[in-house]
Amino acid sequence: MEWKPDKTSKKAVYKQIAEYIEQGIADGTFPIDKPLPSERKLAEQYGLNRSTIVAAYSELEANGLIERKKGSGTIISKDIWGLAKKRIPSWNRYIERGSFQPNMPVVQRIRKESEEKHLINFASGELSKELMPEDYIREMIRTNEFTGNLGYDHPQGNIDLRTTIARHVKKYKHIITQPASILITSGAQQAIHLIIECLLKPGDAVVIEDPSYHYSLPIFKSAGLKVFRLSVGRNGMNPEDLIELHKKHQIKMIFLNPIFQNPTGTLLSHYQRKKILDISSEFGIPIIEDDPYSLISFTEENASTLKSLDKNGNVLYVSSLTKIAASGFRIGWIIGPTPVIERLADAKQQFDFGHSTISQWLGNEFLRSDYFDVHIQMLKTELKKQRDVMANSLQEYLQEEIDYYLPKGGIHFWCHIKKDIDDFELLEQAIKEGVIYTPSLTLGTKKGYIRLTYGRVNAEQIHIGVKRLANAIRKSSKR
Ligand SMILES: Cc1ncc(COP(=O)(O)O)c(C=O)c1O
Repeated sequence: MEWKPDKTSKKAVYKQIAEYIEQGIADGTFPIDKPLPSERKLAEQYGLNRSTIVAAYSELEANGLIERKKGSGTIISKDIWGLAKKRIPSWNRYIERGSFQPNMPVVQRIRKESEEKHLINFASGELSKELMPEDYIREMIRTNEFTGNLGYDHPQGNIDLRTTIARHVKKYKHIITQPASILITSGAQQAIHLIIECLLKPGDAVVIEDPSYHYSLPIFKSAGLKVFRLSVGRNGMNPEDLIELHKKHQIKMIFLNPIFQNPTGTLLSHYQRKKILDISSEFGIPIIEDDPYSLISFTEENASTLKSLDKNGNVLYVSSLTKIAASGFRIGWIIGPTPVIERLADAKQQFDFGHSTISQWLGNEFLRSDYFDVHIQMLKTELKKQRDVMANSLQEYLQEEIDYYLPKGGIHFWCHIKKDIDDFELLEQAIKEGVIYTPSLTLGTKKGYIRLTYGRVNAEQIHIGVKRLANAIRKSSKR
């Protein structure tokens, strides 16, 4: 409730106002870098005579808390604030001046709304509880002795986990590597951040896919990079576009999510994979292969990673447990030339002294267990069912209104809305109807697209969610 002076109190009204403003300066209600409200405004706000406000301000001025300058209003004293010589940092200014950029406001809004239980969540890029190996982990904790290390571990991460990852990528991704060439990170997200911070400089030109998950990450902008976007077609990025761009801008790094790309679900064709690797070798441009989804494949189609085709060490390979097990493990990994890995490990140590050893122990036990295969088979079967329910629901409720690409793996549908709608309005309308998704604004430039993620919702929720979305699309007016 808004504060008001108590006219029935024994304390003079001007004193109450002076104390309220003094308290408000101390707790930040009145930011130190902004002028205080004018006497006229406060008088109107509290229904008082202006002379009462003048008296309150005079008292604060006499105490050295504020300064009144003709023409520039009433400001808070900056040097010495208050008799106790307290100084208050201007938090607002600090919040705005840091070089590390905040998330886009629309991303912040979606995150906040996603916590609302009544909303059907097609926005979060993670798995539902039912698809995570919760029972296995619970049983493992109950029956196994903790054999991990509770001290700071190796800067590159626990050696047992790195050994297991080397075996894992050999078996599932045909990547030949060794523990010395692996760094454990806090998810793929931290892997990307470390690469940007350690291997690139402000002003460097980099390429990302358009649309892409990478577009939504302010860490590129925070690092002062020049980000160029190359459009993703049915078969991924066009290698010719890459050559053209490099000739103009001297590209320093290429970020790709070649298998079941987020958000389009596309697979970079074998021909394009080879061609992009050739370009990387010809011009000496490193490729960051972000590969969180390749194990969730619903097809027999060849989906070999770029890293498995990379004979010269041009690719830094990034993956994690998030999309194949559980986001809460926060376990990711980077595979690359050992000196690069050591450089990144040195930075990781500066950031956080390494990843939690308990999480690494659990991740290792899970990844090396016989259960891992069983889990992946279950995941593929269930996610394929969820994908099909989403495709059927889209057919049932939105056949006329949208086009989509049927993903052959991963957890995302990329849909084009044929009707000319306002993207912000549709999002607001969808939230009102009880469903949330990721709008294209956060993933690239194309308007009129939405990403629907079917990883965190069950069949019933998918059906209801698509129906709600259809209502929202019908209710949204034209641009
Ligand atoms: C392509 C891609 N890369 C990286 C990440 C980050 O995942 P995490 O840090 O949880 O491993 C995501 C998550 O949505 C993603 O889709």
